[in-house]
Amino acid sequence: MLKVRGERDQVNVAKMWEAGQSHVFRFWDTLDDAQRRALLDQIDEIDLQLLAELTARIGEAPALRPLAPPRDVIRLPAAGACPPDREAARVAGEHAIATGKVAGLIVAGGQGSRLGFERPKGCFPIGPVTGRSLLQIFFEQARAVAERHRSSFPLYVMTSRRNHEQVRTFLVENEWFGMSPVEVVLFEQRELPVVDERGRLLLAEPWRIATSPDGHGGVIRALAESGALEDMARRGIELISYWQVDNPLVPVADPVFLGYLLERGDEAGAKVATKRAPEERVGVWAEIEGRLGVVEYSELRPQDAEARDESGSLRYRWANLAIHAFRRSFLERMAADPRLPFHLARKRVPHIDREGRLQRPEQPNGIKFETFIFDAIAQADGVTLLEVERAREFAPVKNASGEDSPETARRALTELYGRWLEAAGLAVPRDAEGRVSVPIEISPLTALGPDDLEGKPVSEIEFGSPVVL
Ligand code: UD1
Repeated sequence: MLKVRGERDQVNVAKMWEAGQSHVFRFWDTLDDAQRRALLDQIDEIDLQLLAELTARIGEAPALRPLAPPRDVIRLPAAGACPPDREAARVAGEHAIATGKVAGLIVAGGQGSRLGFERPKGCFPIGPVTGRSLLQIFFEQARAVAERHRSSFPLYVMTSRRNHEQVRTFLVENEWFGMSPVEVVLFEQRELPVVDERGRLLLAEPWRIATSPDGHGGVIRALAESGALEDMARRGIELISYWQVDNPLVPVADPVFLGYLLERGDEAGAKVATKRAPEERVGVWAEIEGRLGVVEYSELRPQDAEARDESGSLRYRWANLAIHAFRRSFLERMAADPRLPFHLARKRVPHIDREGRLQRPEQPNGIKFETFIFDAIAQADGVTLLEVERAREFAPVKNASGEDSPETARRALTELYGRWLEAAGLAVPRDAEGRVSVPIEISPLTALGPDDLEGKPVSEIEFGSPVVL
């Protein structure tokens, strides 16, 4: 076995041998002192017991758990209607925002590998005309929410080790998109090692074990360990509006959603919309063994994905839009014992082979271990499920082309802004298929919704060229 000096290092090296992971020292003789130190430090961080538990699950078939559709979904009101409970919810939500009790939480630690964008996803230019980045859209919305309610609306942004500095630099270079830096808290999520099908650790470099962010469920631990949760308490934040960095349509801090949660006394909430088709790659909300939760698309059996109810609608139709709300007290309760189930994801993971050559596999070769935020929601005491209009709230940027791509997201933004302008009385040009035929972009600082366009000089807009407001 390898000789190292410090006692702690000796124990760790012995443990790696016992765990059958001694191959991580294959290049030891070629490493310089700093590289050896880096490898030993990384090994020191690895929870080998957890790793053993997780690798023991490789090859296990996912458990078949009894499913039923969720019973309690707050449905969209009929066009033009405004039910009293909805109005009450809006008032309660607006009050919470105006009294400075609400903050935003963006999860932006993912790798965006499907999009093929080298920089952090939040920097991706998505505005249909100006190329506003995803982060800019959210930061400007946060500013607009705070200004409208003459209150503060801090933003918490979860990054990961690989993109933290890039995100920070991007925000600094763009002067935090007009937000005060004290209103923005960046914090990093944890990374976990990546293994092959046999449970052996993959090496990213001769001195570095390949790792990957621990899934957005890691947000709970990361909020607690970074001090962000305490920071929320200090600022008097009681409610958290949560969303994924990949969806430019998210209405930040929707008062109706927040208000429903408050009025019902629920601990957490999730927005849902009907699934486009059985094969759409979204999770669905369901009662899993009697508890509300999400079944991921990769874990939903084809017969359940295809199943229809008496009315002909998909039995499991409530797509998880990954737009949530939480009480801070709920996140604190979860953080006290952040044990969420791990999911195993097979991904293409660049690594070095036995000869030290970098391999970029075409097929999934590595297994990543991730926890999911919706498994925490499953433990909430009361969950508000609110149906929303998909075209208004959900157009994620996942793939380089085709469905859920920059093209479809930009199109969705243009369509949405086109509808706002039509609501303001303008004749927006549309093509033969009824699609808005000129790219339109409205800054969140100009309007957060159609009502904000009242009193603005929109009647002067000419549609001969792309429209920017
Ligand atoms: C996700 C949801 C799915 C939902 C869909 C809606 C999961 C497992 N599934 O699918 O139920 O219908 O979004 O768009 O999440 N992230 C982190 N850290 C991580 C991993 C991810 O911050 O360790 C962030 C990413 O930056 C991204 C988001 O979480 O913003 C989604 O992650 P991704 O892995 O792309 O999930 P999807 O498969 O798209």
